[in-house]
Amino acid sequence: MTIEEAKKRLCLALDVDSLSHAMRLVETLKDRVTLFKIGFQLFTKEGPAAVLAVRRLGGRVFLDLKYHDIPNTVASAAKEAVNMGVYMFNVHTSGGSEMMMAAVEGAAAQAEKNHVSTPVILGVTVLTSLNDKILADELCVNNALSHHVTHLAALAKAAGLDGVVASPREITSIRQSCGHDFTILTPGVRPPWIKDEDDQKRTATPAEAMRLGADYIVVGRPIIKADDPAAAADNVLRDMAGL
Ligand code: C5P
Repeated sequence: MTIEEAKKRLCLALDVDSLSHAMRLVETLKDRVTLFKIGFQLFTKEGPAAVLAVRRLGGRVFLDLKYHDIPNTVASAAKEAVNMGVYMFNVHTSGGSEMMMAAVEGAAAQAEKNHVSTPVILGVTVLTSLNDKILADELCVNNALSHHVTHLAALAKAAGLDGVVASPREITSIRQSCGHDFTILTPGVRPPWIKDEDDQKRTATPAEAMRLGADYIVVGRPIIKADDPAAAADNVLRDMAGL
């Protein structure tokens, strides 16, 4: 893969607590990263202004708010995501098929109305903070976690979602069951030169995630907390490209 291709597949998590900090990162990194993830922290603090500011600087936005509600509410939220001009957003697959279909239909209807492309809609399967024991004891899911992930990914595909968010260890089985025309975005990526794994436990390097078949990798702290975020991003891109 070339560096230019890698740039299209690197998603930077803007996990910061102010719009000004986020904007500094986008300004610094926009020649290296084209997709910026806005999650609960920044969106709760700054709201749609954060989305609009990233777009104004030329970045694409992945709105990571993991919608999970009754179908009508999720459809309405999906419409507002389209109105903000996000490139990608996500929903919880455990909200069920009807909810996922409502997200797809709501987004498509609004996109048609606004004469824009429908955003890429991804599903969250099982949060990586859960494990087999929690799934069985607390959520009464008596399926092994890995099977449950694959099951939910297939459900997402059948409901019309474009892909899923998946940890590195889930990529292979999701690819096998959902095929290649299904987007996989992978967090939990740690460059090989990072010794401290923060709270990420089952990590892969950028090169490994690409080799396993991820379409996008999400990287946050290894870049945004680096002394030189631009140099860190360059190193991630080189690793993705196998250089
Ligand atoms: O800083 P770091 O590279 O760990 O950031 C990863 C980003 O991906 C964070 O925004 C985190 O919320 C998100 N994420 C994750 N693990 C998941 C799903 C999302 O780390 N399973």
